[in-house]
Amino acid sequence: MNYAQSVNQEHKKTNGQFFTPIEIAGLMGTFAEVSESSLRILDPGCGTAILTCALIESIVQNNSKLQEIDLIVYETDKALIPYTKESLDYLRSWLNAKNIELKFSIHTDDFILENAGCLTDNGNLFSQTINPFDIIVSNPPYFKLPIDDKRAIAAKAVVNGHPNIYAIFMAISARLLKENGQLIFITPRSYASGSYFKLFREYFFKIIEIDNVHLFVSRKDTFNRDKVLQETVIIKGTRKEKTNPKHKVHVYSSHGLKDIDSPIIKSFAQKELIDLSSNEKILYLPTSDSDEAILNVFKNWSGNLNKYNIQISTGPVVAFRSKDHIHDTYQNGTVLLAPLFWLHNVQQMALDWPMPKPEKGQYVRVHDESKSILIPNKNYVLLRRFSAKDDKSRLVAAPYFCNFIEAEYIGVENKVNYIYRPKGHLERNEVIGLCALLNSSLFDSYFRIFNGNVNVSATELREIPLPPLETIKEIGNSVILSNDFSVDKANKIVNEQFEFTLATI
Ligand SMILES: C[S@@+](CC[C@H](N)C(=O)[O-])C[C@H]1O[C@@H](n2cnc3c(N)ncnc32)[C@H](O)[C@@H]1O
Repeated sequence: MNYAQSVNQEHKKTNGQFFTPIEIAGLMGTFAEVSESSLRILDPGCGTAILTCALIESIVQNNSKLQEIDLIVYETDKALIPYTKESLDYLRSWLNAKNIELKFSIHTDDFILENAGCLTDNGNLFSQTINPFDIIVSNPPYFKLPIDDKRAIAAKAVVNGHPNIYAIFMAISARLLKENGQLIFITPRSYASGSYFKLFREYFFKIIEIDNVHLFVSRKDTFNRDKVLQETVIIKGTRKEKTNPKHKVHVYSSHGLKDIDSPIIKSFAQKELIDLSSNEKILYLPTSDSDEAILNVFKNWSGNLNKYNIQISTGPVVAFRSKDHIHDTYQNGTVLLAPLFWLHNVQQMALDWPMPKPEKGQYVRVHDESKSILIPNKNYVLLRRFSAKDDKSRLVAAPYFCNFIEAEYIGVENKVNYIYRPKGHLERNEVIGLCALLNSSLFDSYFRIFNGNVNVSATELREIPLPPLETIKEIGNSVILSNDFSVDKANKIVNEQFEFTLATI
């Protein structure tokens, strides 16, 4: 506490230093289930060792056979070490009084650089270099690493694109466990989906069977003291040579700290939360009956964009690289111009264009030099790639029809995805049907079950299950017939189609 107050926010950010509140440390401790008399424990990125202390306190209460603990902790911030040592000395005398011996060693080396080798040794538990652990507990640092950072390079077996350091801590820890050893981690929930974490998910969930998950739905409440706006998740898993798809997983959820002791609890077979045979291996975290009902609706759909010969791509106009081609105003026919659609033009069920804004010209000049950043004027669904934190819906999709403007080409800015049929064209009812679905609360709720952040990636959209194409067209026709293109109407039609009342979502 003293330390957290004495260092500034910048220092905390660069070291990923956000300490676990005592209530959460206590909860994480209770997740351990061990009956051995001798334990080897690891706490990578231990800070002042609050997690270790809470874990061991809980084990002592539940395991009367415990006689000795071999504890390894890692912490790179030397300024913290005196506090770490003080906690561990105290822990040792507390355990001594209970006739339990504690041997501890504090490593000040970088946990990743010291241990990443284990990621590529094929995980051989009998490897000379690994002395595996019974329990690993951690609140690792969270920040993105540059691709050329030596830690990202050392851990390249689990890294694609921009890695976040916390996932590397998790992957290495999974490898450092004994068979049936357990890990308990608190992290952002961003690893559940997205291409940057795909290799990580493949690696981690192949050897870790999930036992419990506790999701903190509020971004603000969990690490309140340090003002970290992250949706946070605790995962407790067991190392298995072969994971069992039928293994029962308990999903707890609470808003934040205040209701941490009275979470909502749901249980699922592991395969219902993560399908290890799927391409993306997305981890779904349903937290209520309605989430579960929504998952079941989507599970019954076997369609997707690809099966309907529909594709999604990212807008090719990168504004700062295309400055010379972008124009603010229509130039009275003196040069050939195509409309340019930005994120702010894309509204739910409606394209609002032109909507002039400083530095956001609404046209692209059509000439040979700009052809590579323009797309043919066809029917499209335009979809925002990012939502704002307080937006009501994560998915914001607008229809675009080729008769909107007389032009051979249109421009789509890079923060917008466009959905199209590469060979052929999307019918009017397909465009409206897809827009109605994407903007519906059914899709928004489904999306939130696996995506805890504000990004909407094309990869995720490609994987999203869709109802039969005929049903999409029927939805489109119903909206068109009603002549009411509002989000409310579209939502109502989608809900009626799938017999979902608004109250259940
Ligand atoms: C999110 S804090 C959590 C601290 C403590 N575990 C807790 O729960 O309060 C992560 C800690 O990891 C340390 N750390 C950052 N990078 C590290 C690395 N590469 N190896 C070991 N420790 C690291 C930071 O200095 C920080 O104290």
